[in-house]
Amino acid sequence: MSVPIKKDLLSVSDLTHEEIESLLQQALSLKQRGPCDLLSGKSLALLFEKPSLRTKVSFDIAMHELGGHTVYLSPAEIGLGQRESIPDVARVLSRYVDCIAARTFSHETVTTLAQHSTIPVINALSDLEHPCQALSDLLTIYEKKGKLHGLTLAFVGDGNNVANSLLLAATLSGINFHFASPPGYKIKDSLLQQAKKSAAASGSGINLTSDPYEAVKEADIVYTDVWTSMGQEAEAKKRRLAFSQYQVDNKLLDSAKSAALFMHPLPAHNNEEVSAGLIDKAQSVVFDQAENKLHMEKALLIKLLSPSNLV
Ligand code: NVA
Repeated sequence: MSVPIKKDLLSVSDLTHEEIESLLQQALSLKQRGPCDLLSGKSLALLFEKPSLRTKVSFDIAMHELGGHTVYLSPAEIGLGQRESIPDVARVLSRYVDCIAARTFSHETVTTLAQHSTIPVINALSDLEHPCQALSDLLTIYEKKGKLHGLTLAFVGDGNNVANSLLLAATLSGINFHFASPPGYKIKDSLLQQAKKSAAASGSGINLTSDPYEAVKEADIVYTDVWTSMGQEAEAKKRRLAFSQYQVDNKLLDSAKSAALFMHPLPAHNNEEVSAGLIDKAQSVVFDQAENKLHMEKALLIKLLSPSNLV
């Protein structure tokens, strides 16, 4: 039975709890099934203002394995908002392709694209959110732990796009969300208010602290991300200082539950947010996370482009 579709996926909060469950089932089924032709004849524009390895390749291969086609538009090719206005890019692409996956600096750029497109727009990372990452991560957690509800995820680091989307995805799915950051790098209040409503509905909890050890205590998942996101390079030195006590190392990971997973969206900076060698430990599932982007993005593309094919 298919669930109602929204036109765009700009934020995790565009989805209900039921839609997330349906996407997880769809992604698991597509992972088993391998290549199939569910999106034959469909095309996707990958419109990227920032670099990408995983998101770019996984969307490209997802479309290929579903029988569709992608067109990659690099930052230099478009000059989004400079050479050509964002509304015009949206209107032109809507005449050629069936979907846009956009990676942008400002979140407003993806919302403007969505506003002026007649086709679905997927947020493939903006400064505010990274919904495809968070949804793929739920798939990895579900595969490893056999459930989502009642687990505790501790995010140690910056209140950035990845943390924001994980907070929304976790609280919608009944996962307790613990977050530790230095004082100036907290999650935005507007997102927290939204997440508190989901947490109340799903029965999960949110715990914000400046102490990484408090955050990881009793955690089933320890998650971190870069201290300096794309576009913040000028602040790298300041951020290295601010986050120096927030590295995930063996001692911190050992303070979580003994079977805790270590997660990171990659690229990782060894000896910054994660100590050298930690991503090679048995507890680390970072490459499963990378693979699962392929399966979750397939599920998303089918949901947005061909919902009658949802399982
Ligand atoms: N927070 C990081 C995530 C990269 C996948 C960034 O925006 O650069």
